Amino acid sequence: MDAPVWFISLACLGALYVVALCARPLAYLALCLRRSKDLHRYGSWAIVTGPTSGLGRSMAMELARRGLNLVLLDLDAANLQETSQAIGVRHAVKIKTVVLDLALVTTPQGDEAIRRLREAIAGLDVGLLVNNAAVNTPGAVYLHEADIERFVRMIRVNLWGLTEVTAAVLPRMLARGRGAVVNVGSGSTVAVPSFPLYTVYSSTKKYVARFSRSLYVEYKSKGIDVQYQVPFYVHTRMLSSAVKAKLRPWFVATADEYTRTAARWIGSGPLCVPGAAQKLQWCLTGFVPDWAHDWYRIRLHLQHRAVTRGARRVVIPDGGSSSRGQLIAIGNSSSGGPN
Ligand SMILES: NC(=O)c1ccc[n+]([C@@H]2O[C@H](COP(=O)([O-])OP(=O)(O)OC[C@H]3O[C@@H](n4cnc5c(N)ncnc54)[C@H](OP(=O)(O)O)[C@@H]3O)[C@@H](O)[C@H]2O)c1
Repeated sequence: MDAPVWFISLACLGALYVVALCARPLAYLALCLRRSKDLHRYGSWAIVTGPTSGLGRSMAMELARRGLNLVLLDLDAANLQETSQAIGVRHAVKIKTVVLDLALVTTPQGDEAIRRLREAIAGLDVGLLVNNAAVNTPGAVYLHEADIERFVRMIRVNLWGLTEVTAAVLPRMLARGRGAVVNVGSGSTVAVPSFPLYTVYSSTKKYVARFSRSLYVEYKSKGIDVQYQVPFYVHTRMLSSAVKAKLRPWFVATADEYTRTAARWIGSGPLCVPGAAQKLQWCLTGFVPDWAHDWYRIRLHLQHRAVTRGARRVVIPDGGSSSRGQLIAIGNSSSGGPN
């Protein structure tokens, strides 16, 4: 029996839709099963910003484990020294350090520090740049509440600093026609439509997302792989204990777990969400309508704000004259938030 044309057309459309739906997960599965790239093919040195704690420290350790020499860039010389020693004890790699406060970019001191970075990498076979450093203070606040200077600092570190460091390193990669840049972003930019009360933080990361994707297209034909890596929740200093306490443990990776997977993905496409649990979160959030995300996020982040605003109460004994003591509230300096 001949089927009518409209039926065949609809069936073809349906089949195309199913193929398109399946193609993405299948392509992704293929990527998961492939062997990770040998990072040495980019060059023998890697630069990591913010390597003295959290993800940056784990990433520096992981890259050293893979035999890459390191240029570590951070704002505190003593922390850099301690981190270099900790890595040096475990892995026989060369390590250079550059003291650079990314909040000082576009100032004379910042320009001087960027000049020192250029000098430090001159003549090195720099293959990989991991732009990891970022700040998330003052945490969950309405825009009008916080000291504007803190937002300016956040924008300088998360956005301008990252841009300047990338611009300083790219010429060396271009000259050799190979290299990889990893920009560490945030789940707040890919999984949810808004990130209220962390608005400036998540907006800086949205910049990093667009910056990365456009650079990926710009430099792909020049042998340079640019990737935006997206952590969701990872146990580091950036998450306050109040936020950590509210999280389901199976959704929160340790820094070492995260970076082991993240390092495997370097060079594989413009965007990566490392780790199975983090990918699952990404997938699940895609089924939730925007209005429900917005409704939930503002409530959750208002709870963070309550903690951040100083719910800590300390009892001061009043010398025994009263059994009640004295209650005072202390402002909580914790940065708070999720990402
Ligand atoms: N933890 C999470 O759940 C999570 C989620 C999403 C995205 N992320 C992203 O992951 C990256 C690493 O964060 P983390 O959780 O590992 O945070 P972290 O433990 O606070 O580490 C941040 C690093 O950046 C450095 N840094 C801060 N300000 C700097 C400045 N002005 N100049 C130079 N270096 C500076 C810090 O140096 P000092 O130690 O000297 O201060 C530290 O080494 C960030 O890009 C963050 O946005 C984290």
